[in-house]
Amino acid sequence: MKNLFTLRDLSVVDINRIIDNAIMYKNGKEFKGLENKKVVNMFFENSTRTHYSFIKAEQNLGMIDTNFNAEASSLKKGESLYDTVKTFEALGFDCFIIRHPQNNYFNELDNINVPIMNGGDGTGNHPTQSLLDLMTIKEEFGSFEGLKVTIVGDIRHSRVAHTNIEVMKRLGMEVFISGPKEFDDGSSEYIDFNQAVTDMDVIMLLRVQYERHGYQMTLTKEEYLDNYGLTMKRVNEMKDNAIIMHPAPFNRKTEIDDDVVECHKSRIFPQMGNGVFVRMAVLERAFEE
Ligand code: CP
Repeated sequence: MKNLFTLRDLSVVDINRIIDNAIMYKNGKEFKGLENKKVVNMFFENSTRTHYSFIKAEQNLGMIDTNFNAEASSLKKGESLYDTVKTFEALGFDCFIIRHPQNNYFNELDNINVPIMNGGDGTGNHPTQSLLDLMTIKEEFGSFEGLKVTIVGDIRHSRVAHTNIEVMKRLGMEVFISGPKEFDDGSSEYIDFNQAVTDMDVIMLLRVQYERHGYQMTLTKEEYLDNYGLTMKRVNEMKDNAIIMHPAPFNRKTEIDDDVVECHKSRIFPQMGNGVFVRMAVLERAFEE
């Protein structure tokens, strides 16, 4: 059994093996080893892509999926996360997918004896998102070494940025951050946005996470788009083979202009689609010895 809490627990070899297996699933690989395994999807924070691509991955693998409803559960009577998960283990479930607003919530779950896949913890980790981002980059460029990426926007509040910066550097990529200085948390070297647009192989945009701010962003949406948003004018200045990514959901007309979302350089929707195959690969790994 193998948990997936953070990519820091995985070697470069492990990461490449998951990505290559995901690409095999995309190319039609069939795997019967998880049929009828019972999995619980526990989302304590809103999600569309992660939640439903895990469901699709589980269905593709013939697993039996249950979707936990936190609002209708005994959490409302004060039951803890640990006691809730331990209860599902006692009921005979084989695997958990958990998204939770608390950073490192999984540290409380040491005594759970079935695999747990982290679907995102607070501003900490989003391992399956990074894996699908890496799969998209590997499909595009064939390898990682020497590629230049800038992650643009709300770095400070982004578990996607924090996970990607660490793993992309380990894979040999040059990783920069850009966007409003109020979101620069020092997690990588800062680069001027207009320079990033012309120099990078990958521009990865982030959503402005208003719900995590607890304060009013100093820029209006119009000012954000003018200064740090990806517009078609800026897209036309990107390198010929450069691509645009975004974990989504996106704020149209803030970090990304409407006509950029599905433009020729955008990989945003194929990137989402890769989430199903990465999650199939991660589930297969969870049950390996
Ligand atoms: N990218 C991502 O994690 O999206 P969701 O919040 O919709 O799962």
